Amino acid sequence: MDTIADRLIVALDTDDLDQARRLVLTLRSRIRFFKVGIRLFTAAGPDAVRVVQDAGGEVFLDLKFLDIPASVAGAVANAVRMGVFMLNLHASGGREMLRKAREAAELAAQAGGLRLPRLIAVTLLTSATSSLLEELAIEEGVDAHVLRLARMAADAGLDGVVASPRDAQGIKSVCGRDFLVVSPGIRPRWAPSDDQQRVLPPREALAMGADFLVVGRPVTAAPDPLAAVERLMEDV
Ligand code: C5P
Repeated sequence: MDTIADRLIVALDTDDLDQARRLVLTLRSRIRFFKVGIRLFTAAGPDAVRVVQDAGGEVFLDLKFLDIPASVAGAVANAVRMGVFMLNLHASGGREMLRKAREAAELAAQAGGLRLPRLIAVTLLTSATSSLLEELAIEEGVDAHVLRLARMAADAGLDGVVASPRDAQGIKSVCGRDFLVVSPGIRPRWAPSDDQQRVLPPREALAMGADFLVVGRPVTAAPDPLAAVERLMEDV
């Protein structure tokens, strides 16, 4: 049986590598997975990944690749060589981009005797609304569009999507039970929702079918981040 520690990813959303290192060292006894996103990566580069790995942790590289297939394939291969356990790319890059990314990941893993990371697609950002779809002249609604992109990602051999736990059942019924749902917007009842619109407590999110929970500020902005992690784990 896995535990909440196998499903919890703490987002290192800072511009400061030293601060990220302190957080990792503080939390590492309880947290195995850390997310490095565009903010920390543009400030610190691959050192951000190494800070986590040197502490024995695993990295979800959240750089949301979207480019021509060859460029994305190259970036994915580099991420495989960095040894990350999970990375993501935009499903809206299309089937060909997703397929090439998957192929590049397999080749790089094979060539280096490395593990194949989980490839996760971003469907629609949670900041997107129906008016964005209108702007893009996309006629279907948000839910249908999310499902279309999720199915395309699954067809292209990706391992899962970033999505709200509220969409987990719908996505799994279309893409298969093992298709991963990685969910941000997680807030224990005792934490402020910050700028997240539709939050869920961790226990509810897991009950709705989320496979991984991404939690940032409830932990990283807490006066005592380790105590916050422990409290969150107790809630679950
Ligand atoms: O601090 P908080 O828990 O809101 O952090 C959530 C993390 O998940 C942030 O790194 C944010 O960029 C990311 N994320 C999100 N919503 C998405 C995709 C990613 O909040 N739809």
